[in-house]
Amino acid sequence: VEMPSPNPKKVLLASPRGYCAGVDRAVITVEKALETYGAPVYVRKEIVHNKHVVSTLEEAGAIFVDEVDEVPEGSHLVFSAHGVSPTVVASAEAKNMQTIDATCPLVTKVHREAVRFARDDYEILLIGHVGHEEVEGTAGEAPDHVTIVDGPHAVPDIEVKDPNKVVWLSQTTLSVDETMETVRLLRERFPNLQDPPSDDICYATQNRQIAIKKVAANSDLVIVVGSANSSNSVRLVEVALEYGAKASYRVDFADEIQQEWFDGVSTVGVTSGASVPEELVQDVLKVIATAGYTDIEEVKTAEEDLIFSLPKELRPKRAS
Ligand code: F3S
Repeated sequence: VEMPSPNPKKVLLASPRGYCAGVDRAVITVEKALETYGAPVYVRKEIVHNKHVVSTLEEAGAIFVDEVDEVPEGSHLVFSAHGVSPTVVASAEAKNMQTIDATCPLVTKVHREAVRFARDDYEILLIGHVGHEEVEGTAGEAPDHVTIVDGPHAVPDIEVKDPNKVVWLSQTTLSVDETMETVRLLRERFPNLQDPPSDDICYATQNRQIAIKKVAANSDLVIVVGSANSSNSVRLVEVALEYGAKASYRVDFADEIQQEWFDGVSTVGVTSGASVPEELVQDVLKVIATAGYTDIEEVKTAEEDLIFSLPKELRPKRAS
């Protein structure tokens, strides 16, 4: 006679997870550009930070480059979802390129805020990761007005000229909790620090963190699907550990999962970053199922239905 197991094996699948509206738009932009103009289409930087997405588009004829100077004169060039600074746009124009801007509209919104505060002569404390493409793009809108604040630990070293004219902005894919801590510490130093006009951390980043908090509180192990250079994916691992998961690992692909992760684990939480196609999550669920975790419960904390229209270059032309 089989006894019911005292530790039933279970999967908690976070929702929302995976593609956000900005990533969906950026990936479709490259596909449409290939369809419309034919290969090769050049893309500056990874269109989104996901290995699988980049290699799939490479197979379809996209060529990923680091900088504009690697692209032949007159080519079709897509700017990635993370945005670009005005100097990058200018160097593409100087080489006569047909540019298609796949910058997420929610990143563009932060660029506009930077431009406006710089025009009003504010010092902008941009909370974000040094070296991340989005931060370079946003800072490039107003290089003389922006200081990058790379988390709470960086606050003591920040210097400003006029503490009465400072505002903070942020990268879109940070940990909400850590960013609030950074702001609290900044405000301790600069009590007149002004807040951004609206949230810079985007809806998708916030929603994925809220969902994984609920999942992590009831999971022994949390597996996050996402690439190492994906800021929002890496944050999901951190948030899962803070909110109760005993262990959390990030994987690009299901074959990176190790059997010993499941030792003593009864509940496995699963989520994915905003740049991750759902098929990679389904692959992970299959591998987990072979370890006996077949009972899947979705933990849904929000509905998402945002869709962004394609860059203007790729929208159907109206008959005039
Ligand atoms: Fe945009 Fe946020 Fe996605 S800024 S690209 S909607 S993670």
